[in-house]
Amino acid sequence: MPKALLIYGSVEGQTHKIEDVMAGHFRQHGWEADVLDVRKLPPGLALEDYDGVVVGAPIHAGRHPEPIHRFVTAHREALAERRAAFFSVSLSAAGDESEQADAQRCLDDFLQDTGWHPPIARTIAGALRYREYNLFKRYLMRKLMEQGGHETDTSRNHEYTDWQQVHDFVEAVVALAQR
Ligand SMILES: Cc1cc2nc3c(=O)[nH]c(=O)nc-3n(C[C@H](O)[C@H](O)[C@H](O)COP(=O)(O)O)c2cc1C
Repeated sequence: MPKALLIYGSVEGQTHKIEDVMAGHFRQHGWEADVLDVRKLPPGLALEDYDGVVVGAPIHAGRHPEPIHRFVTAHREALAERRAAFFSVSLSAAGDESEQADAQRCLDDFLQDTGWHPPIARTIAGALRYREYNLFKRYLMRKLMEQGGHETDTSRNHEYTDWQQVHDFVEAVVALAQR
């Protein structure tokens, strides 16, 4: 049975949620799937044990989280030898053309900085989890959203993830592994 490793560097949980959904798609294809937090990787983790590796990270303040940077930089050679893919989660990916270009720029910068150039690298829209932010973060995000003409109703969370795109991402990784 082929095995997929999905590593996430979530801050508020949306990237983790996306990888849980991806793991379900892999299992429907008959794969085993392990979803792991980059900050809690088991010491003996061997990328060689996996047929496909997916790394997912959100954009916070224009950058992907440091633990994901460190992981990818440290393992870029092993990642380059595997069927591996990256996705970047952000609100910019849910925006207009210029915001989407910002999301793509952040993704390109990440790959440039880490020196990893996976065959599949995509931006995916995330979520505004107002209800899970502390008061300061909720205020800050609401202000930023107001300036950008985005959702300011803090009484609920707002999810922009396109689940069809998430499904298609897994299809692309499975097709890559079958080549
Ligand atoms: C403090 C903060 C800063 C953020 N900065 C950016 C940003 O610079 N660009 C962007 O497109 N989205 C930004 N976002 C939106 C996140 O990328 C989005 O909420 C994503 O779903 C978070 O994923 P996570 O829940 O896995 O951490 C920010 C969100 C927060 C809370």
